[in-house]
Amino acid sequence: MSTINFEEIFETKLAKNEMIEPKDWMPDNYRKHLIRQISQHAHSEIVGMLPEGNWITRAPSLRSKIVLLAKVQDEGGHGLYLYTAAESLGISRDEMLDALHTSKAKYSSIFNYPTLTWADVAAIGWLVDGAAIMNQVMLQRTSYGPYSRAMIRICKEESFHQRQGYEAMTRLAFGTPAQKSMAQDALNRFWFPTLMMFGPPDKESPNSDNAVKWRIKRETNDELRQRFVNQTVPQIEYLGLNLPDANIKWNEAKNGYDFSEPNWVEFKNVINGNGPCNKERLNARVNAHKNGEWVRAAAAAYAKKLDDQTLAA
Ligand SMILES: [Fe+2]
Ligand SMILES: [Fe+2]
Repeated sequence: MSTINFEEIFETKLAKNEMIEPKDWMPDNYRKHLIRQISQHAHSEIVGMLPEGNWITRAPSLRSKIVLLAKVQDEGGHGLYLYTAAESLGISRDEMLDALHTSKAKYSSIFNYPTLTWADVAAIGWLVDGAAIMNQVMLQRTSYGPYSRAMIRICKEESFHQRQGYEAMTRLAFGTPAQKSMAQDALNRFWFPTLMMFGPPDKESPNSDNAVKWRIKRETNDELRQRFVNQTVPQIEYLGLNLPDANIKWNEAKNGYDFSEPNWVEFKNVINGNGPCNKERLNARVNAHKNGEWVRAAAAAYAKKLDDQTLAA
C-alpha cells in the first residue's frame, strides 16, 4: 500500500507556482507564518484608519473630505478581507482581535506617528500607501490562495490612495510658501518611518528566509526598500521639495540611489510599544471594540433568528 506524501504534494505545488488552498495540507510553520503575517496586515489596515480619520472633519474642502472619507473606508474593507483570509487558516476573529488589544500582535509601526497637519495626510497617501503598494503588488502572487485573491482587490484600491496623496501633495508643493513648507515638513517627518515599513535589513530579518522559500514573499525587505527610493526620489524632485536625506545620491554602478538607513533603534522602540502614539492607537481600537459590542450582539441575534426560521420552515 502506498502512503500519500503530503509534504511532497505541497512542495510540488509551490514549485509549479500553484496556489495552496485552505483545505490543502500545509506544514504547521507555513500556517503559523501566514496567520501571523495576514493578521498583522489586517491589524495595520484598521489601525491605519486612525491617523487619517483624525483629519476627516478638518479636510480643507468638500472634495478632499469626500476623497479622504472613501479612502479611510477602503482601509476598513481591507481589514475585513484580510481577517477573513486569516480565518480560513483556522484562527477566529476574536482570537486575532484579542491579540491586537493585548499587544501580543503587532501592526505596522508607521501608524504610531502623529498626523500634525493636513500635509501629513497627503504624505501618508503618497509615501505610506506608495510603500504599501510596493509590498502588496508582490503579494498578489503569494502562494496562499485566499491571501492572494484579497491582495488583488486591495492593490486596485491602494493605487487610488497613492494618487490621492500625491495629488494633495502636489497642491501644497505648488501652493503658497506656507503650504510648500508644510509639505516639506511632512516629507521630512514621514520619510524614514516610511522606509522602516519594509522591515529590518535582510541580514537581521528572521522571517524573510522562510517567507521567500514558501513563496509567501517574493522579494526581500532591502530589495523593496531600494525600489521604493528609486521610484520616489524623482517624485520629490518633480514637486520641487528638498530631499529628506543628505545622503541620497544616484549610484550608476547599482542603477539606483544610495540613501541613509533609517534609525533601527527607533524602529524597535516603536514596534515594542514606545512610539509617539502607540497607547493612543491601541486605546482607540479597544474602545471601538467595546462600543461595537451591541452591534455584534444584534447581528448575531438576527442571524440566529434567520437560522431558526429556516429550520422551522
Ligand atoms: Fe489598505
Ligand atoms: Fe491604503
